[in-house]
Amino acid sequence: MKTRWYKDAVVYQIYPRSFCDSNGDGIGDLRGIISKLDYIKDLGVNAVWLSPIYKSPNDDNGYDISNYREIMEEFGTMADFEEMLEGMHARGIKLIMDLVANHTSDEHEWFVKSRSSKDDPFRDYYIWRKGRGKDGKRPPNNWTSRFGGSAWQFDEATGEWYLHLFSKKQPDLNWENPAVRREIADICNFWMEKGVDGFRCDVITYISKEEGLPNGKFNPIMCGDEHFVLGPRYHEFIRELNKNSWAKFDSYTVGESTGVTFENAPECIAEERGELDTIFGFEHMCTDMYMEVIPHKFKLPRFTAVLSKWQSLPESCWNTLFLENHDQPRSLGRFTGDFGDKRYEAATMLAVAMQMQKGTPFVYQGQEIGMVNCKFRDEDYLDVMARQVFSIAAKIPFGKAIARYCLARRARDHARTPMQWNAGANAGFTAGKPWMMLNPSYKTINVEADKKAGEKSIYAFYARLHAFRRGNEVIKCGSYRQLDKKNKSVYAYTRSHEGKTLLVLANFKNKTSKFKLPPELSSGRAVLSNYPDSALSAEVSLRPYEAAVFEINA
Ligand code: GLC
Ligand code: CA
Repeated sequence: MKTRWYKDAVVYQIYPRSFCDSNGDGIGDLRGIISKLDYIKDLGVNAVWLSPIYKSPNDDNGYDISNYREIMEEFGTMADFEEMLEGMHARGIKLIMDLVANHTSDEHEWFVKSRSSKDDPFRDYYIWRKGRGKDGKRPPNNWTSRFGGSAWQFDEATGEWYLHLFSKKQPDLNWENPAVRREIADICNFWMEKGVDGFRCDVITYISKEEGLPNGKFNPIMCGDEHFVLGPRYHEFIRELNKNSWAKFDSYTVGESTGVTFENAPECIAEERGELDTIFGFEHMCTDMYMEVIPHKFKLPRFTAVLSKWQSLPESCWNTLFLENHDQPRSLGRFTGDFGDKRYEAATMLAVAMQMQKGTPFVYQGQEIGMVNCKFRDEDYLDVMARQVFSIAAKIPFGKAIARYCLARRARDHARTPMQWNAGANAGFTAGKPWMMLNPSYKTINVEADKKAGEKSIYAFYARLHAFRRGNEVIKCGSYRQLDKKNKSVYAYTRSHEGKTLLVLANFKNKTSKFKLPPELSSGRAVLSNYPDSALSAEVSLRPYEAAVFEINA
């Protein structure tokens, strides 16, 4: 049944709210996506991951779902959805939906009923507890929300607290309840029967909480993890869901797996486990952030050491490759330093460095034209996480300045400014007033300008890279070996398969870097490069952000 098509796929992620608005209300929508299907196809990707499009009050832009079987009104109708899906399939593009199953919206009817009375049949769909202290006015334990503050909210109606590991409008579902697990399987089946090809499973590693919900080790930012990341029944729950839904289809699943380590990843994704097909590991994204929020200096060897480690997963596991998504700042600048006028070179260098590794690459909307972070004033931040950070910071000395410093580098808002289609009004994103400010860079960075850039089109480079990857057995299956692991400027590795070797050189610096090669790797021809005349020798001089793939002479 399973063809494992994802092993030869590149996935494009769409954050629908910010992609393309078709009706001038300032909000991206499904018809906007339909109008861009050829743009997506011509990029040479063969799957789309769509961030949530279900009915939602949008406390967390759709990651708070109030009805899993309906389309958010602002995004369109079920008929639009079906047309979009058909349009994708007709172009050879699969569709992966976002499955947000750790929590729902507090406006979901399950929660409305659940909070109404302690005896309601839906009470046990969520995690309710009495408070601590004589009057029960202290939260049941010390766990923190991933957005800051306590993970518990007191509810007047019944005088108890409910757990929310994200915003208080995102109550956690109680997976201990078999009825909840059946509901989630039914939801997956509902969409797969419509023809959807798989799921990206939102914070899926949080679904099983330790019995008794014990206090976490002291940690002011993220407290309690050890009691719910890959909790006691996690594997059992996922195997059950796989059996009752995903395994019945030729599906692909990728789990957002905060907290999964290289050591325990195989328990989550090895083929024989019958759980998830792949995960997003975040270790490489943490090499320039402490606790995922506090920025620190990017150092190439620290970054490539993590990438190389994950390349050595056991044969029965499959990797994902990514530098961006809707929760991360833009990769340009972050991993390249100040690129000055070398935006094309820096963007394409990152593409080569990531995509020549073994695994399934993910490209986030705008990455294919080299979109960059935005300069925000305090009031420009709209994300629930940024707002929460500011409100907590306001209570501590210098808090605001620290929050500003961290958010300028870390905010999720950077990835969410509208897609930049052209240099015209509102970057061609909308005919109305955009729901979120545009990055002023759209005057120069936009799809139209990029396409006109000819040899220096980032989009065209991505398209070439994707065409080059497709069906290439060395890239798909070849063994991976990093060269000169301590190199501070150049990321170099080989991929080898059945007597063929590809050498990848990527200069992460905005200056020339020299790189010495052993004799067996010093002759061959460039098969892909972001400079027109990359060449191999015993000591290669790589120009600013030069990245090239060489086929080594046997
Ligand atoms: C995931 C999503 C993020 C969301 C959170 C809660 O991390 O990627 O955008 O805020 O889950 O659903
Ligand atoms: Ca719209």
